[in-house]
Amino acid sequence: MLRSTFIYLSKADWARNIVMNWDFARRTASRFVAGETLEEAIGVVGILNQNGINATLDHLGEHTNSLEAADKATQAIFDIADAIHQSGVRANISIKLTQIGLAIDQEACAENLRQILSHAKGYGIFVRVDMEDSIWTEATLALFRQMRDEYQLTNSGVVIQAYLYRSEEDVKKLAQESVPVRLCKGAYKEPAEVAFPKKKDVDTNYDLLAAILIHGAVSCGKPQLSDDGCIPPLPAIASHDPERLDYARNYAEKAGLPKIAIEFQMLYGIRRDLQEQMVNEGYPVRVYVPYGTEWYPYFVRRLAERPANLWFFISNYFRR
Ligand code: FDA
Repeated sequence: MLRSTFIYLSKADWARNIVMNWDFARRTASRFVAGETLEEAIGVVGILNQNGINATLDHLGEHTNSLEAADKATQAIFDIADAIHQSGVRANISIKLTQIGLAIDQEACAENLRQILSHAKGYGIFVRVDMEDSIWTEATLALFRQMRDEYQLTNSGVVIQAYLYRSEEDVKKLAQESVPVRLCKGAYKEPAEVAFPKKKDVDTNYDLLAAILIHGAVSCGKPQLSDDGCIPPLPAIASHDPERLDYARNYAEKAGLPKIAIEFQMLYGIRRDLQEQMVNEGYPVRVYVPYGTEWYPYFVRRLAERPANLWFFISNYFRR
C-alpha cells in the first residue's frame, strides 16, 4: 500500500512541483543522488573508483514530453561519454528510452539511441538501457535489438525485471544472444496480470533468472570485465538483497564462472557496507550514480522501496 502510494506520487506533477521546492527534500535526495552537475558526479565516481568500485552514470530524467527535450537529453548523454573519456574514470552510462523520446516518437527515439551508442562506441564506452514500466518493455527490447542488428552497435546491454512473468522467456533469448543483462527486481507499479504481486515470488524468479544468465555466460566463453572498467561482464546482479547476492555468488562458483566474469551492481547511497564486502571478496562491483536536477521520480522510487527512508525524509524535515 505504502509502495503503491509512493510510486503513484513519483509520477504526479502536482506532488513533484511541491516537493522539488522543499530544501529539506533536496537535502534528503542528496543521499541517493550524486549532485546536480556532471562535474559533481564525476567527482563522486572518482572516489568510488579509489575504493575499487566501478560506476554507471545516469543523467536523471524520464518521460520527456517534446522532441526538443529529447534532443537535449541526448546531448547531455554525449557529454557524459566525453567526460568519462576526458577524466579517465572507470565508468559507463545508463539511459532511459523515455528520456530520449520513446513516449513521443519511436523513430526519433531510435535515431537518438543510434547517435548515443555511436558516440559512446567511439570511446569504447558501454551504454546500459534501463527498463521502465512494462508498457515500454517490448519497445525497449525491440529498439535495443534494432541497434545491434541494423547498425552493429553492440556496446550496449539491457535490464530485465524479475517481477515480470515474461522475463524468463526474455532472459533465455538474451542469454542465447550473448547480451549483457542487468537483472533487477523491478521498481514500478505493475498489475497482477503482468507481474508477480508477492515479493517471495519475485525473489524466487530472481534466483531462477540469475541462474539462466550465469549458464549463458559460461556457455559463451565467460567474457570478463574490461581492464578499463567500461565494458561489463554478461551477468550483472543488481540488488541489495543479501540472499539474492548469496544465491548468485554460490551458483556462479559451482558453474565455474570466474569472479571477473560476473558483476554486482548497487545504487549510490545504498548498502555501502555490502558494496565494500563484495569488493573485498574480489568481485567487480558497479554503483549506479544518478545526477542532475530531475531527481524527483528517482528519489520517490527509493522512498517506495524502504519505509525506513521515509523516516529519514521526515527527520530531515525536523532538522530544517
Ligand atoms: P529489496 O527491495 O528486497 O531490498 C533488499 C534490501 O536492500 C532492503 O532490506 C534494504 O536493506 C536494502 N534496500 C533496498 N532498496 C533500498 C532503498 N531504496 N533504500 C535503502 N535500502 C534499500 N529497477 C527497474 O525497474 N529498472 C531498472 O533499470 C533498474 N536499474 C537498477 C540498477 C541498479 C544498479 C540497481 C541496484 C537497481 C535497479 N533498479 C531498477 C531498482 C530495482 O528494481 C529495485 O527496485 C531496487 O534495487 C530494490 O530492490 P533490491 O533488489 O535491492 O531488493
